[in-house]
Amino acid sequence: MNDQQLFSLLSDMSLEEKVMQLVQLPGGAYDPTAFQTGISEETIPQRVRQLAGSTLSIDGADKLRDLQTRYMAAHPHHIPLLFMLDVVHGHKTVFPCPLGQGATFDPALVEEGASVQAAEAAADGIHVTFSPMCDLSRDARWGRVMESTGEDVLLNSRMAAAMVKGYQGERVDDGRHVASCIKHFAAYGGAEAGRDYQNVELSEHTLREKYLPAYRAAIDAGAMLVMSSFNTWNGIPASAHPQLMKEILRAEFGFDGVLISDYGAVREMVPHSYAEDDADAARKSMAATLDIDMCGACYSGHLEELVRSGKVPEQALDEAVMRVLRLKNDLGLFEDPFRGVSAERLEALRSDPAVRASARKTVAESLVLLENKNEALPLRGRRIAFIGPYAENADIHSSWAISLGDTSGTVTVRKAAEEAFAGTGTEVRFAAGCTLLDQGTHVNVSIYSDPDWEEKNRRLADEAAEAAEWADTVVLCLGEHRGQTGESTSRVSLTLPEVQTDLLRRLAGTKKRIVTLVFCGRPLELKEAAALSDALMVCWLPGSEGGHGILDVLTGRTAPSGKLPMSFPRAVGQEPLHYDQYPTGRPRPDDRYDAFTSRYLDCENSALYPFGYGLTYGEVRFSPVTLSGGTLAPDGVLTASADVTLTGPMPAEQTVQLYLRDVTGSRVRPVRELKDFRRILLKPGETRTVSFEITEPMLRFWTAENRWASEPGRFRLWIGPDSASGSEAGFTLIG
Ligand code: NOJ
Repeated sequence: MNDQQLFSLLSDMSLEEKVMQLVQLPGGAYDPTAFQTGISEETIPQRVRQLAGSTLSIDGADKLRDLQTRYMAAHPHHIPLLFMLDVVHGHKTVFPCPLGQGATFDPALVEEGASVQAAEAAADGIHVTFSPMCDLSRDARWGRVMESTGEDVLLNSRMAAAMVKGYQGERVDDGRHVASCIKHFAAYGGAEAGRDYQNVELSEHTLREKYLPAYRAAIDAGAMLVMSSFNTWNGIPASAHPQLMKEILRAEFGFDGVLISDYGAVREMVPHSYAEDDADAARKSMAATLDIDMCGACYSGHLEELVRSGKVPEQALDEAVMRVLRLKNDLGLFEDPFRGVSAERLEALRSDPAVRASARKTVAESLVLLENKNEALPLRGRRIAFIGPYAENADIHSSWAISLGDTSGTVTVRKAAEEAFAGTGTEVRFAAGCTLLDQGTHVNVSIYSDPDWEEKNRRLADEAAEAAEWADTVVLCLGEHRGQTGESTSRVSLTLPEVQTDLLRRLAGTKKRIVTLVFCGRPLELKEAAALSDALMVCWLPGSEGGHGILDVLTGRTAPSGKLPMSFPRAVGQEPLHYDQYPTGRPRPDDRYDAFTSRYLDCENSALYPFGYGLTYGEVRFSPVTLSGGTLAPDGVLTASADVTLTGPMPAEQTVQLYLRDVTGSRVRPVRELKDFRRILLKPGETRTVSFEITEPMLRFWTAENRWASEPGRFRLWIGPDSASGSEAGFTLIG
């Protein structure tokens, strides 16, 4: 349809019909087998089900084809129903969790993965994915850091744009792509003390410089929807925030797509003490141009009356409805309401070796090697014992892999190890070693408890000790439970479960070579694990091809190349911890003990492993930086180069990182900021020159005059392997 036809459709719709386009119902309202939310789906009036414009969390090609047919037949204007779902890191084939994808520092690979995920979702009947989550994440206590690509502005921005492009493709209506709904606007990651749904108090300059750029990058990449966040920003709930929504999102960013609330976030303005009641909440959200009320009854119950009484102008309603109709139209739903739905194509994709290969490569690139003492890796030895609760665990997906179904297609560490060592002469053994969780641990909606827990762990530890005695190398597979990360999983401790640490201590006592793998969705405190292990590697929640990707790296088929997308703390008390801090007036010199400087009495300031950090096999060295000049003019280009050399046994990829520091500004400037990065492949012994171009726009920030500008003066620059090291140079920006 063209715009004129859409307008004519709009003018033909009743007030009730128009309001209902702005209502999103939980999947349970249409499908009793869908996730039931506890909001009594069965009480939703039949009329609302008949007219609501969208629903979420149902999938299945045949089921959705059937539902669409019935829905459209009953709808007065036969307007198709929109199906939305959280395809966060895979639909049926699950890729590493977003934090793991961030660790790849490989936006092209992430884009490819998103397009594979979109193809599966589209074949299964989905039109919109609630992804990517663009929230800057600096506090490891917040469980949702797993859904982000980490703490850095540039990395998040590039990854968010890559995911949007991958999901939406060149043409979103080709039946192989889905519309991307970015979330959660805005600054959800700034939740006070890392507690989910908690308020956000943040200066405007930090919001603009740190938190907003990734959303902006995703919108510039064409994201068709934006989801509002649960939090307040400086006292006003995001879902009705006039400055965030109208001034920044709509006017400044030029976003004219659909703005949808998060789940029930409109009605949450009542307990937030910002709205009197549901009607008041609906009025406030409409005033902020929020188009769809996700799973709340505020719009469905009150918007009609608000328009009739003139409290919400009909013009505002019409604009919101037009945005929803345009989205349906852009998705091609008016031409083909079943766009791309095909159970056969989904099956073909699931078993397509190229799809699995893409997931496997992403896993391999996401793994971050933190320690490798005496070249413990790649694995060697004739007897290898894989021990620990993740040695044979297919539950290596996040809680957002909601449409995966059963995990029988997941490649565990055990499965991949048996494949990798078959016929090589190396013997492998497996032992669980301990339970995954401590007794009484909270995992999202439940509490873990096992009456035989103690006895079971005694037995498992004995079996593990025996396997370790037999082996020359132990690969210890530890980590968080997937229910300890994701929504509503904030934690005040970042340690591995005690039962797992006890196992590590016991096995370290055997004096065998210990390679510890950590499965997690957030930075953990790994000081003790690092001390007791010969090698230490972070595996995140790696998904369907987890075992393969991990064995590829352990065996040296691929050298490790992942880099940390978030700083790993020495202690939880350092959180929120991020490398791009503002300097203080009393910096602690080189982490030496020095009273009356900005420091802790009982812990160093620095991260245990900083943002950008990650080893490979062999050593990577950086030469001093050469600069094409000492000054940069506003319209000029400065080239900074360094030679990067690999001395090692095999080819390895390395992410070379460029950091800058503005020495003085009208507002204090961060101690370092990532400004560019590049993955390069090095052969053993090879040296490559890596050059970055520096231009004036890269130096802009939100100045004391409340505008984006650069300020002439001195800049420091580093090219290196992470945020805490590298070769340094300097230049001056001239006015
Ligand atoms: C709530 C979550 O905050 C959001 O990320 C998700 O997309 C919606 N529920 C829909 O499932």
